[in-house]
Amino acid sequence: MTTIRDVAARAGVAVTTVSRVLNESGPVSARARLRVEEAVRSLGYLPNDVARGLVTGVTRTIALILPDITNPFFPTMARGAEDAARERGYTVVLGNSDNDPAREAEYIRLFRQRRVDGLAIASSRAVSALPEAVGDVPVVLIDRLLDGWNVDSVVTDNALGAELAVEHLASLGHRRLAHLGGPAGLASADERLRGFRAACERLGAEIEDISRGPFTSESGYERGLRLLGGRSGELGVTAANDMIACGFLQAAADAGFRVPGDVSVVGFDDIPLARLLSPPLTTILQPAYAAGRTAIERLAGRLERPDQPIERITLKPRLVVRRSTRRRA
Ligand code: RIB
Repeated sequence: MTTIRDVAARAGVAVTTVSRVLNESGPVSARARLRVEEAVRSLGYLPNDVARGLVTGVTRTIALILPDITNPFFPTMARGAEDAARERGYTVVLGNSDNDPAREAEYIRLFRQRRVDGLAIASSRAVSALPEAVGDVPVVLIDRLLDGWNVDSVVTDNALGAELAVEHLASLGHRRLAHLGGPAGLASADERLRGFRAACERLGAEIEDISRGPFTSESGYERGLRLLGGRSGELGVTAANDMIACGFLQAAADAGFRVPGDVSVVGFDDIPLARLLSPPLTTILQPAYAAGRTAIERLAGRLERPDQPIERITLKPRLVVRRSTRRRA
């Protein structure tokens, strides 16, 4: 394998000169720079980033830790993060915590050992030992805030999103509403429930049922069957995310309910699948790509200027009307 010494020999300069050119770490004459660049090209030399990281303390690597890559919301977010990182010369490494706090802590430890420059975390935790695990590594929280931890963050206005869902159902004449919530204690899920309750109260809608559970289609299916079992009459349902809504649609079909004939359903996220469901899902769009992108821009900004003020960035959700909701007859 070609080494930095081979490059120095080919260019006829000292190893330190090659290192200065490659790391932009000191003065070098224009002539020496040209010769080094030519030698690098002709030998096909690839700098050893591990060795470089040891010298500079910078690896130009950002770790992105997500709670569930099987939920299509998160790959979209990862895409935004990756695009922003690439543009800034960073590589993203991914950890999927599977909503398991122990696995999340393990990833944080591993990534710290590998000396990543920063961490972008959509935490799996409701109550967290995250600050201690992260230590002094620059961090940005995406999607989920942790009470009392003042670090850079990018979240969607979850309460507003839930209010938009209720307002939409109310505008269609629904007076009895149910919410299929996310896990209790998780900030995003709690905020969505808060928005649901607030809007029901403001608009005088009756809360028929509230349940809490994982952000999965299985959970939406089970809770859907329970909610619909033995009932009749109109109902408007808001789901805390599109995966729960997917499961609910299946439950409604299995229980013999028509959507939107008998029940109107609004999801949350606008995952790519939402428009392909039967019926296509009315939902609250959360800008997942922008969230990933903005989070990495924020983190990269902090890596460049560590003293800048902490920023909490809130993105706006919006209602996307499709065919799972309908005006009451
Ligand atoms: O973890 C699941 C949910 O949290 C996603 O579907 C998205 O709504 C995120 O905020």
